[in-house]
Amino acid sequence: MYQKYYRQFLQAPNRGEPALHMACHSHHYWPDVTLEAVQQYWRDAAALADNKWGSLFEEKIPAWQRDVARVLGLPAPERIAIAPNTHELVYRLLSAFDLHQPLRILTTDGEFYSFARQLQRLEEEPNVRVTRIPKEPYATLAQRFEEELHGGDYQLAYASQVFFDSGVAFPRLLEIAARKPERTEFTIDGYHAFFARPTDLAAVADKVFYTAGSYKYLGAGEGLCFMSIPANCSLRPLNTGWFAELAELENRAERVAYADNWLRFAGATMDYSTLYKGLAIFQLFEREGITVEKIHRYVLAAQQRFLDTMDSAGHPLLNRENLIHHDLENGHGHFFTFDCGDSGRSEQLQEELLSRRVLCDRRKQLLRLGFAIYHPEGETYRRVFVS
Ligand SMILES: Cc1ncc(COP(=O)(O)O)c(C=O)c1O
Repeated sequence: MYQKYYRQFLQAPNRGEPALHMACHSHHYWPDVTLEAVQQYWRDAAALADNKWGSLFEEKIPAWQRDVARVLGLPAPERIAIAPNTHELVYRLLSAFDLHQPLRILTTDGEFYSFARQLQRLEEEPNVRVTRIPKEPYATLAQRFEEELHGGDYQLAYASQVFFDSGVAFPRLLEIAARKPERTEFTIDGYHAFFARPTDLAAVADKVFYTAGSYKYLGAGEGLCFMSIPANCSLRPLNTGWFAELAELENRAERVAYADNWLRFAGATMDYSTLYKGLAIFQLFEREGITVEKIHRYVLAAQQRFLDTMDSAGHPLLNRENLIHHDLENGHGHFFTFDCGDSGRSEQLQEELLSRRVLCDRRKQLLRLGFAIYHPEGETYRRVFVS
């Protein structure tokens, strides 16, 4: 039923027999409307030249902020900062802390490389101390994380809403964030939840930073990430680009000034074609009544069919024992991760699946299979298990 929006990707000329694209948690197909959107970006750039910046900052960026705010229940669209990737936004946030003072950071051992690597490097600085709460067992994660959050003197807490290496949703993360200590800045990495799991941030929007991007489940491609900023934020990022003072360029103060909106976390010049693609997708989905709730229901049903087929298939690797999960009905993202024991086995399985035109991805011994609205309605996923 949703495949009609993805014809160009599903029928791409050089791909032969239609594939079952189950790497959608990594790279979502782009809806067809994105082609016209990219061309429109080119036409606007050609017609408006330098004047395109007015239209971008006065119309397109606010429209994008309104759409993101609507999807996530955020009350203040003007507090949604944008940048080409989340690393830039999170690093800008990290740069607001004074490294001459002790900096204590609480996180988990399951964060995506973008943050994990940066943190590891930061940890080499003498004043930085990081506590990583093991994500497993998931059943006790919420309790263990929250106890440490209140027990230690943390300036920053950072956790994923859905873990990239398992698809498990951090249990009760929003409730934990709502009860955070005043002294702790709290960041939620929503990359694997945005436009996949219905998320209402209304209760925590004034308290937390929330990051995500257009690359995954929205299907707008790389190059456009965002970070929603809590109310009354007075942080002064050391890493600050000239866009941060767009409002004051005429009137430079002696001391670097920061705006009370997203420009506090703004960087510098970037490409906005993904902004056009993202807006076109938001428009399409709104026009067609495709909500995140509907997408989530479609994917949950697809995942259930997959599990039913799996349970009767008796596959040596793709089975319940190897599936990493905690709460498959309510607490999971849009992909399944199977622990194949070692990377040789997962690599061989990936090749086997590829020979049946099932596309998936792999990180060491972990094989990930994702679900999307462009999978056929009623798909049984039999081809994953048998040729
Ligand atoms: C959980 C998570 N956060 C963030 C990112 C993206 O990081 P960045 O925008 O810094 O490339 C990914 C990408 O896969 C991810 O899985």
